[in-house]
Amino acid sequence: KRVAILISGGGSNMMSLAESMTGDHPARPCLVLSNVPSAGGLQKAADMGIPTAVVDHKPFKGDRAAFDAALIAAIDDARPDIICLAGFMRILTPEFIDHYAGRMLNIHPSLLPKYKGLHTHQRAIDAADTEAGCSVHEVTAELDGGPILAQARVPILPSDTADTLAARVLPKEHLIYPETLRRFMEGDRSFRVY
Ligand code: GRF
Repeated sequence: KRVAILISGGGSNMMSLAESMTGDHPARPCLVLSNVPSAGGLQKAADMGIPTAVVDHKPFKGDRAAFDAALIAAIDDARPDIICLAGFMRILTPEFIDHYAGRMLNIHPSLLPKYKGLHTHQRAIDAADTEAGCSVHEVTAELDGGPILAQARVPILPSDTADTLAARVLPKEHLIYPETLRRFMEGDRSFRVY
């Protein structure tokens, strides 16, 4: 099976996914694509010998449909079976999501359904939550709203800032995303807490 991974930044989740797809794993990364030409994850992917591509959203100036069409063309060139969004910071059109219906996953740094959208860690701290975490979900037209496949929980400490909390959550992302991708590929759509 072929997995395309979409990033916008450093790509630490992309790295943990790519590093998991070795040996007897039924998948291999076939593409790492970013909407940001300078994304650090592109070099990391290239260093691992993974084909990369850039579809810069800036020239499309808000023409979301045209950007998504260019994105689909670049992705489908790599003939992926599954798409993993990993720190991909673009809201996708329903047409894009329909094109990959049932075979696209995302990792989100909150205990969904809480804190969809951005600034999740600061919002959890501001709400005086005692726990935070991350979720892997199937991507549907509702932003951060698809069926949840996995979650990991961490404590929020009184001294936490968004940065210290993010640093506690990120390793959990690197744990649950590869395991959930493998389960997903084996047809396991159950919800699991790690
Ligand atoms: C992570 O917090 C991830 O949950 C969010 O983007 C952040 C950076 O991810 N989606 P990565 O290091 O680029 O994988």
